[in-house]
Amino acid sequence: MGGDFGVDFGVDFGVDLNPEVPNVARIYDYFLGGKHNYPADRATADRLLSLMPEVKASALANRAFLRRAVRELAAEGVDQFLDIGSGLPTQENVHEVVHAVNPDARVVYVDYDRLVVAHGRALLEGSPHVRFAVGDVRRPEEILEAPEVTELIDFSRPVTVLMIALLHFVSDDEDPAGIIAAFRRRMAPGSHLVLTHVCHDRVDPNLIRQGSALYDRASAPVTSRSEARIASFFDGFELLEPGLVEVSRWRPALAAVDDAPPPAEGRTRILGGVARLP
Ligand SMILES: C[S@@+](CC[C@H](N)C(=O)[O-])C[C@H]1O[C@@H](n2cnc3c(N)ncnc32)[C@H](O)[C@@H]1O
Repeated sequence: MGGDFGVDFGVDFGVDLNPEVPNVARIYDYFLGGKHNYPADRATADRLLSLMPEVKASALANRAFLRRAVRELAAEGVDQFLDIGSGLPTQENVHEVVHAVNPDARVVYVDYDRLVVAHGRALLEGSPHVRFAVGDVRRPEEILEAPEVTELIDFSRPVTVLMIALLHFVSDDEDPAGIIAAFRRRMAPGSHLVLTHVCHDRVDPNLIRQGSALYDRASAPVTSRSEARIASFFDGFELLEPGLVEVSRWRPALAAVDDAPPPAEGRTRILGGVARLP
């Protein structure tokens, strides 16, 4: 099935490709200006945008944070990246940013959405040192033991684990802190965790409620969290300067000239941080 995606994968993706169910990867792709989305995705995204027009700028700021963080880490010599909840390929993906600094660095993308993975594989075919794996972050062992991961990532050496705009799709019952701990236990000293997360502190609770209600009907509900709770996800790591901040405030001096302007503060918040495992 190719549809709007322009790629015929020749595979039945079942629920992942049900175009009637708004899908979190495709909604986000729409916010980023991508074409990998269906009318149901766009309808939900447009409702969210009419509620909070800043969401689009927040998504772009989240992506710009990701680029700055991985570029910095690659420049410091980090050469292994595990990007979990990577999303649909878009412009300036992690491997492109990293390989501009170090063409030999290894990047493994992981997503639980089979369409995301199939699309990623179709685009990455032939890229050296890059793999795309199917994996659900709620089952860390499956990711850590996936052949694409073990083939490229050497956990006896420092690795950067990216969880960008991912853990707000994991509920409290699913134990996000326990999930991070499972990865931390396998990460060598000197590894990094890069994480961003939707935060509800100082945001109108009505907006949070209405925005969450839209995601309740999508492929994954959203759990926004407090700044203190998001900070606790870095337990066991040392946050690098400037700490856990609005993504657009993380080392803004490194922003590219063509980065979109940051969102107005206070109506949507995505916090991000980069931390090192001592
Ligand atoms: C908002 S997108 C973020 C994409 C990318 N990380 C970024 O920030 O630009 C969230 C992605 O997480 C994926 N995702 C959600 N829950 C997941 C889970 N339990 N395991 C793996 N991936 C998941 C979705 O399929 C989607 O592609």
